[in-house]
Amino acid sequence: MLDKISEAETAALEALNAVTDSAGLEAWRVAHLGRNSPLMSALGDLGKLPKEERPAIGQRGNQAKRALEDAYAAKAEALRRAELEAGLRAGALDVTLPGRPLNRGRLHPAVQGLREIYAVFADMGFQIYRSREVETDDYNFGLLNMPPHHPARDMWDTFYTTTPNVILRTHTSPGQIHAMRQLYPEPIRVILPGMCYRYEQITARSDIQFYQVEGLAVGRHITLSDLKGTLSDFARRMFGQTVRTRFRADHFPFTEPSAEMDVECFVCGGQGCAVCKQTGWLEILGCGMVHPSVLANGGYDPAVFSGFAFGMGPQRIVMLKHRIEDIRYFFQDDMRFLEQF
Ligand code: PHE
Repeated sequence: MLDKISEAETAALEALNAVTDSAGLEAWRVAHLGRNSPLMSALGDLGKLPKEERPAIGQRGNQAKRALEDAYAAKAEALRRAELEAGLRAGALDVTLPGRPLNRGRLHPAVQGLREIYAVFADMGFQIYRSREVETDDYNFGLLNMPPHHPARDMWDTFYTTTPNVILRTHTSPGQIHAMRQLYPEPIRVILPGMCYRYEQITARSDIQFYQVEGLAVGRHITLSDLKGTLSDFARRMFGQTVRTRFRADHFPFTEPSAEMDVECFVCGGQGCAVCKQTGWLEILGCGMVHPSVLANGGYDPAVFSGFAFGMGPQRIVMLKHRIEDIRYFFQDDMRFLEQF
């Protein structure tokens, strides 16, 4: 009888080794621990044995039963783990994989530069005034004191359209006339940002389309000191509180007097470097007091009103700030360039 129990136990443990899935395990449980299994029927036959043999055989039988139950529990746990792992490996969703990063968009460097400029002028009370990119010859030139055949028109190489007198604006200055005509007789403090077009050779320094930000202030007692103060303050807010500025006399037909403003080179601090071409200064905008006939063309009486205007190239400012060497990068849509900002 004892041998029978040991045999049943050994056979059961061997069979358990061969089990590979939970269905097999259940079949094994029925076969080796079930009511009709060899071990259980042996234990069931205990009553038929002589009294004195019963305790020893019963003890051995229970020991074997416990051994099989423990082995069953261990196998069940091992199978559960293996099946879970296999399921995870085969499943389409692996929750342990790191997530795919979201590609966050960003603003174009030119737009970033524009917004910095807007913010500075907004603080000084300037509103944004939008005006059209397709202009008439009159707005772009005539009303700005450049009648037909005026040689100053040569400063702007112009894209003409097939419609007579309709051109692409070469600068944002025609917006001055639009703003004045719309806002008269109120005092004006606006900036006019937007795209301009020039029929030029495309090089690292000039493109046929580019942004400008124009500024216009019109009021009753506006003087050259207001122009200088506003633009010097702009330069300090844009480039740093200690930056120095200088104004050099220049000429524009629509301002009188006219000037160019330079800022101290923020790359070398005025020492002279490649960016400022060893001069220590960077030219950033043109400006001047609005010419009396331009005021009059806008509807403002030059005997009562005065004003100042300026125009800058925000891409040039961004180029200087980030040492971008080629203006063509701005509109090439090359992600390797754009992703740096
Ligand atoms: N419109 C000028 C240019 O394109 C810049 C400018 C604007 C100058 C306003 C003076 C006043 O070069």
